[in-house]
Amino acid sequence: MTVLGIETSCDETGVAIYTGRDGLLAHQLYSQVELHAEYGGVVPELASRDHVRKLVPLIRATLGQAGLKGADIGGIAYTAGPGLAGALLSGAAVARSLAWTWQVPAVEVHHMEGHLLAPMLEEEPPEFPFVALLVSGGHTLLVRVEGVGNYELLGESLDDAAGEAFDKTAKMLGLGYPGGPAVAARAASGDPARFTFPRPMTDRPGLDFSFSGLKTYALTTMQRESAGLREDQLETLKNDIARAFEDAVVDTLTIKCRRAIRESGVKTLVLAGGVAANQHLREKMNQMMSAEGGNAFYPRLDFCTDNGAMIAYAGWQRLRAGESVGLAFQARPRWSLMELHVP
Ligand code: KG4
Ligand code: ZN
Repeated sequence: MTVLGIETSCDETGVAIYTGRDGLLAHQLYSQVELHAEYGGVVPELASRDHVRKLVPLIRATLGQAGLKGADIGGIAYTAGPGLAGALLSGAAVARSLAWTWQVPAVEVHHMEGHLLAPMLEEEPPEFPFVALLVSGGHTLLVRVEGVGNYELLGESLDDAAGEAFDKTAKMLGLGYPGGPAVAARAASGDPARFTFPRPMTDRPGLDFSFSGLKTYALTTMQRESAGLREDQLETLKNDIARAFEDAVVDTLTIKCRRAIRESGVKTLVLAGGVAANQHLREKMNQMMSAEGGNAFYPRLDFCTDNGAMIAYAGWQRLRAGESVGLAFQARPRWSLMELHVP
């Protein structure tokens, strides 16, 4: 089956075409980053309007890239949630209308299931079962994955998501939006020995996370150290704080993943979601997994952050099993991954 995938849950419009026989045929992404940058974060109403503007041209471009026509599409997969209600609705409306026009089935995709399955698009995909760490702007989840749709929650963030902590810390340091890449770039030239931030919730059993204290830690460090500094000293301070912050997040995530690997006895770890693009995190996880005698798998960098390819793939898994939704489509801004079933 040839599946058209549509992603519009936040600030990226993503479209892709996946087939069971040939894999990923085409993918296109339009990022709204510049649109939201001046506001320092995503403005939901602007995001929805931009998806409406960009989605149809992007679908056309994706069909063109694959050398296909509408009539070649056998099913449509769209992100139904979780995410921004208006953004989700703009994608769902286009997806459902096209499916009706082309008389093909449409299926709802859970955005985090898309992230979770993204490493399956790589040349050497992980094998089930695996432990997955999903680290995005909205979620931090540790999940045991037996197969598509068979998920057991091992741990989650009790407050800010890992990506959210990066974004808030970046904003506080005046590094702009999106924060993850900005903090990572500053951290690369930061001194790892100057500050040591806490590793939240690692001193007690369990696999939950808490990241909101780290941004406060970064803020108070900034306030305490910045008085009377020259411009260049201030920039150095920001680099050093970024480094201490990134080290703390990376270390915390690695400690919890090692714990999950040991407790579950599963030797395969999958990292996905925007924060999985972080190079420092990948290095640490690789070291940890080889010490544990296992392997870590990641999507390619482009498919760590939001994209249409992961939605096309996750939707293909469900469409080929016969799953589809009726004409009365909906958006699911809040939708737990644990509500999903095996297709
Ligand atoms: O998965 P994603 O594209 O969107 C959501 O589903 O939320 O993740 C975006 C998040 C943002 O918080 C962003 O700051 C973070 O991923 N991120 C990073 C990096 N690249 C993106 N965080 C740390 N290091 C990076 N290199
Ligand atoms: Zn995402």
